[in-house]
Amino acid sequence: MEKTAQLEIEGRPYSLPIVEGTEDEKAIDVQRLRADTGYITLDPSYGNTGACVSTITYIDGDKGILRYRGYDIAELCERSTFMEVCFLLIYGELPTDEEFSRFKERVLAHSLIHEDMKSFFQSYPGHAHPMAILSAMVCSLSVYHPQLLKAEQTGEEREETISRLLSKVRVLAAFAYKRSVGEAFVYSRPELDYLANFLHMMFTTPMRTYEPDSVVRKALDVLFIIHADHEQNCSTSTVRMVGSSKANLFAAISAGICALWGPWHGGANQSVIEMLEEIHMAGGNYKKFIEKAKDKNDPFRLMGFGHRVYKNYDPRAEIIKKYCDQVLDHLGINDPTLEIAKGLEEAALTDQYFIERKLYPNVDFYSGIIYRALQIPTNMFTVMFALGRLPGWIAHWKEMIEEPGMRIARPRQVYMGATRRDYVPLAQRGSN
Ligand code: CMC
Repeated sequence: MEKTAQLEIEGRPYSLPIVEGTEDEKAIDVQRLRADTGYITLDPSYGNTGACVSTITYIDGDKGILRYRGYDIAELCERSTFMEVCFLLIYGELPTDEEFSRFKERVLAHSLIHEDMKSFFQSYPGHAHPMAILSAMVCSLSVYHPQLLKAEQTGEEREETISRLLSKVRVLAAFAYKRSVGEAFVYSRPELDYLANFLHMMFTTPMRTYEPDSVVRKALDVLFIIHADHEQNCSTSTVRMVGSSKANLFAAISAGICALWGPWHGGANQSVIEMLEEIHMAGGNYKKFIEKAKDKNDPFRLMGFGHRVYKNYDPRAEIIKKYCDQVLDHLGINDPTLEIAKGLEEAALTDQYFIERKLYPNVDFYSGIIYRALQIPTNMFTVMFALGRLPGWIAHWKEMIEEPGMRIARPRQVYMGATRRDYVPLAQRGSN
């Protein structure tokens, strides 16, 4: 028998369907609530609202579980690759050999951007933030592929859009970096794989060819896998929201990049390093910063700490911490910010304020230290996150767009403003 929840409004009973997920998550379906009762549900910041049903990613924040399509994040990091995870997220299953080769070939085939786009980069000031450039460039890609902008695409057109985007965003990111350091753009090499090509486009110069070693490659692969999806977060929900108007995928992803930029979301990786550097410059006294974070009259937050969903630990942070030690050891880097980060973590984890609020290091706490060791500039960190998150955004857009009966996203509100009043002409308004 179908389970229901009983609701009583002003003495009248209503029965609402219960939806149960495959991992026993439970929801009350309120889709008919307003039509049947005149009431809506109020949940600013969506802490308690399921905006969709999805088969992509499962998170249990209390137990620290993160799975893509059923596969545990730690196992994927250990045994898979970012490209394989892209396929898994977007198409739902791990690829066969043949499917994987076709997928990689298709992505590789789009490793160039229109030559005209190069002049766009030159128009930005040298200090322009690469997230601003990336978001603008991704939206601008749509200009060059008008055939892919149709609201109703065939399966083939959708595949074409997806593979173009996957491939070109990495080129745009590398070019944004080159622009910021004032170096000539470097084209991809067909014999290199997705990530090696990205690093080549970033770090090869006319003076030296960059080839990452296996430890660096593995660390980047893991970072990108870890970033690849995180169900209904701020940027992914933005991609779904924009995509629900049937705006094209380039526009939806561009909006997602902007959402990710904020320091409470993906921008935290940049803010963490800036915070650690500030502590270092101030003599390394991290306890002062913990006190600042606890002070309710001070807007300062401990960046890289806390998460809306994880209330035990962030499994991504655990994995990253391990690779952080490995990469620094391997490259022989003695980064004082790593010691500060470890001290800060230890102090925060034993502090009552953080314990009571279940605030733990999140994915961004250690990722910046790895990116820095790889010589990626601080303002590029969130771009790296965006590259990693790309398959997740695409997977959610695809899932939504292919859902039968999909409707435009359109939340409601409770109006608390002035009630009806008459217009007063300017001359009669007086002064204050
Ligand atoms: N430092 C100090 N206090 C904090 C922090 C922090 N980093 N995070 C939350 N709190 C406090 C907050 O002030 C509140 O205290 P009180 O109950 O006394 O008012 C309590 O903890 C609950 O916080 P909240 O704002 O209701 O939590 P939220 O779920 O709305 O926000 C968050 C989640 C990630 C935005 C927040 O924890 C934060 O700002 N963290 C720092 C930024 C950061 O690291 N962001 C990256 C998140 S992981 C990457 C991603 O997936 O986006």
